[in-house]
This record gives sequence, structure tokens and C-alpha cells, in this order.
Amino acid sequence: MAELLSTKIHETLPEKYVRPETQRPLFSEVITGTKIPIIDLKSPVDQIISQIAHASQSYGFFQVVNHGIPDELLLKVMAIAIEFFRLPAEEKEKLYTDDPTKKVRLSTSFNVARETVHNWRDYLRMHCYPLEKFMPEWPSRPDLFKEVISTYCKEVRQLGMKLLGAISLSLGLEEDYIKEALGEQEQHMAVNFYPQCPEPELTYGLPAHTDPNALTILLQDPEVAGLHVLKEGKWIAVDPLPGALVINIGDQLQALSNGRYKSVWHRAVVNSSKERLSVASFLCPSNSALVSPAKKLTEITPPVYRDYTYDEYYKKFWSRNLDQEHCLELFKS
Ligand code: OGA
Ligand code: NI
Repeated sequence: MAELLSTKIHETLPEKYVRPETQRPLFSEVITGTKIPIIDLKSPVDQIISQIAHASQSYGFFQVVNHGIPDELLLKVMAIAIEFFRLPAEEKEKLYTDDPTKKVRLSTSFNVARETVHNWRDYLRMHCYPLEKFMPEWPSRPDLFKEVISTYCKEVRQLGMKLLGAISLSLGLEEDYIKEALGEQEQHMAVNFYPQCPEPELTYGLPAHTDPNALTILLQDPEVAGLHVLKEGKWIAVDPLPGALVINIGDQLQALSNGRYKSVWHRAVVNSSKERLSVASFLCPSNSALVSPAKKLTEITPPVYRDYTYDEYYKKFWSRNLDQEHCLELFKS
């Protein structure tokens, strides 16, 4: 069994975390100070829709402000998440597993049982919808964990549905198109904990990947940066904007939009002075949903991807390593 990073202090970087020289993050080449689009959800609807269209085509990422989830709740989520990772090792041990099919699991790196080089991350991954079904299996410590996280999950789902409506409209589809196409969506959460790392230039928190789901809503640490997004061959740092949520287009929306919207490569890097936390919420098609490019869009460009079920896609995704080719490449028509 692999060991959680968050159970001890690390003075040196163990060999199994060291990336070969050609695969390291190269901090000096990362672009800082630019911003991925920030969309104010209190703006007029037309404006929101055109901003979403632009961001989803050229960045695959945007941030939202005035999203309706209270700042206070975001802070509580961050506080309870950090408290969770500070629980005694014996407590965390009970939840630990390397098996990616488990619906509530505490693990480390990405897919420890398969990968050859590990990542400087511990994570708690949980299914979150329907709440009544999964909450009983969630961690029961810290005491307020279930209460705070479930409140956040409900808010995030609402926001996600609203965004999917706006994304549909921005593609020239009916507002309900995506929601209907994806079926009864699952909602998963990854609470990511990136401890201080003795040699951050040699490793990753999460190496470059695209998200296999439909839409991701990421709550970033308001103080510590670490998320990079690939644009035109260059890595752009997404510095935290306190109170904002980072939204990204996942593989399923790229497929559904027939390649118009991009599920872009992103990664998380670590640093030597501060630990970093992020809470990713993933909206996923129901397992039986048949994902296919929207007919209205294939009248303009022939279908780029074949039809497949999300179940098939997800299995393929977890059977691979993160930093291989884009998983969607395997589903081209
Ligand atoms: C993810 C992810 C980025 C981050 O969990 O899929 O991309 O900053 N996280 O933690
Ligand atoms: Ni991701």
C-alpha cells in the first residue's frame, strides 16, 4: 500500500516522485500575470453567453464571480478540507484505498497502482449525488465535514446546471440540450491536498491532464497558486482570485460540441514553502448516457467523434496514465 504524503514531513523528494529531465515543470517558462477570462454572472445574459463562447473556444477555462455561492461557505469548505488532512494518520488510514472504482476513497498521487512516477498529492474523492445515497459513506470526522460539504455540493450542482444551460445557449442549442443529453448527472468531488514539497521543480501535484467528465468547478486555495493551463503551447498560471470559481470544459463537452469547445490540458504544480488545497467538483454524464456530437453542430462540420457511452469512456480514462495523449483521440469517428 502506498503511503499518504500528508502523514509526515518530507525533507527530501523520494526517487519515485522525480520526473525525467524532459518532463519537468520548467517554472521559468510559465506565463504569469495574464488572466484567463473572468465572467461576472450578474452581467446581462447576452454578455455572459458571448463571454462563455469565447472562453470555451479559446481557453477551455474561465473563472466566475457573483456566482451566488456565499464567500463564507467557500471559506468553510477550505477550512474543513484542511482539517480533514490534518486528522491523525490512523483516522485517515481507515479510508485509504488504491482502488479507483471505490465511490468514497482517500488516496495519493493519481493512480498509484498503475503509474510509474508518483505525484505530490493526496486526495479524497467522493461521489456526491444523490447526497442521501453517498453521504453515509463520507468521512465522519471532522464533525462538521458532512454538513459543510453537502451544503457546498448542493450549491455547486445548482451553479453547474445554470452554467450548462448558458453553455448550451452559447453553442446555439436549446437551453436544456446538454442537461438532457447527459442524463441524470453524477457529481464527484476531489479534495486535493498538495503538501509542501522539498523539490517542486522535479515533480507535479497533478501532471498535465484533461478532465474526463463534462464540466469541472474548481475552488482554488485563495492564497497559494499552482494551477497551470496550456494555451498555444505555453503554460499559463491561473493565480487565485479569492471568491471566484474556476470552470473548465471537460472531455464530454468537447465531444458534445463536436470539438468547438476545448477540454484543455492543465496541471497542478507544488511549492516548497506552502501547502496548497483545491476542491474540484465534477459533473459527469450518467454512466448509460450516449455521448455524441450535437446534431445541430454536425450539420456544419461532420462528426469529429463517434458515439459512445460514458461508462465506456470512463473505464478507458482510468485504465491509462494521466499524461498520455488526449483520451478523446481514442474516440474519433
Ligand atoms: C483536478 C485538477 C487542479 C488543481 O482535480 O482535476 O485539475 O489546481 N485540479 O488542483
Ligand atoms: Ni483537472
